[in-house]
Amino acid sequence: MDDSRFTHRTVWLEPDGRTVGILDQTRLPFETVNVALKTSTDAEIAIRDMLVRGAPLIGAVGAYGLALALAEDASDTGLAAAYDRLHATRPTAINLRWALDDVRARVAGLAPTARVDAAYARAREIADEDVAINRAIGENAFGLIETRHKAVGGNRPVNILTHCNAGFLATVGWGTALAGIFMAHARGLPVHVWVDETRPRSQGAYLTAWELREAGVPHTVIADNAGGHLMQHGQVDMCIVGTDRVAANGDVCNKIGTYLKALAAFDNGVPFYVALPYPTIDWRVADGVRDIPIEERSPTEVTQVRGRLPDGAVADVTVIEGSAAANPAFDVTPGRLVTGLITERGVCVASGEGLRGLYPERAAAE
Ligand code: MRU
Repeated sequence: MDDSRFTHRTVWLEPDGRTVGILDQTRLPFETVNVALKTSTDAEIAIRDMLVRGAPLIGAVGAYGLALALAEDASDTGLAAAYDRLHATRPTAINLRWALDDVRARVAGLAPTARVDAAYARAREIADEDVAINRAIGENAFGLIETRHKAVGGNRPVNILTHCNAGFLATVGWGTALAGIFMAHARGLPVHVWVDETRPRSQGAYLTAWELREAGVPHTVIADNAGGHLMQHGQVDMCIVGTDRVAANGDVCNKIGTYLKALAAFDNGVPFYVALPYPTIDWRVADGVRDIPIEERSPTEVTQVRGRLPDGAVADVTVIEGSAAANPAFDVTPGRLVTGLITERGVCVASGEGLRGLYPERAAAE
């Protein structure tokens, strides 16, 4: 497939070679607004307040954030402080630590005067590499969708359920879970996507539905609790989701509610796939359910909902008053509930053995 048919980018360098451009995802789907990140504080705020979100995109913006920070203070102390500030923005998506470690390693041995250009160059490589990786993930996912299409008779669309947003908005380009779906649609393989709304921030309803609409992919938004019922009645052929961190044992952390979908899929014999690029694997975490840190976000994300009012204005309205609210942002699905991990290198079983089979250099390093 020709890349030129799918050229969305969610982060870019402005012509001055220093300012970082992003699409403000908190405004979607109501408005399309670009924002310029001119300082490392701008990058920190963009990640923490979720103007950018999705594990691979958080990583890429974190890398650019470190470059912006070095332009402010390229000393060793400046580098260490900026690393810590950016790292503290969001705790679950491991791509952030991966990207910060990578840029820091690239510049650490250089004289401060050489650090800024080197950091920008590496951040750009990370962004470009993400697009290439996701394209490869998409090809591997496409193969699975094609196989499923044949398995269900080849005479109707494949019904794919996805949770949260793992499309191009969650990455630098293409997306992970949605990449194969975009390819299937573009190649004439009929697909229909069940889009979990994904409360509390509604990334499914606001972002995934917007992406699929823009690309003309048939889809239906469903309340988060509908998936199990649809699976029981044969209306879901496969699930494909993204992930924020995969442990070395194959456990998968993703947006809150993913675990319940995996349980329902397992109970109903529906294949459940997770798409990921290699920086999402945290080889240091042996047991995902036990050890992956789960971000707790503000209760106001639960008690308020954003929408368009009858007068056309976009506003947050309160839907819960007088009750306590809790907001764990992610959960962990044990690898045993996952049919396969879709990576840029191919598809593997969600286990330590499966991961080491695809990444033998890691097995050798242990
Ligand atoms: O809180 P978010 O919107 O950053 O959460 C995003 C997700 O959970 C995605 O599914 C995950 O990052 C995979 S993105 C390719």
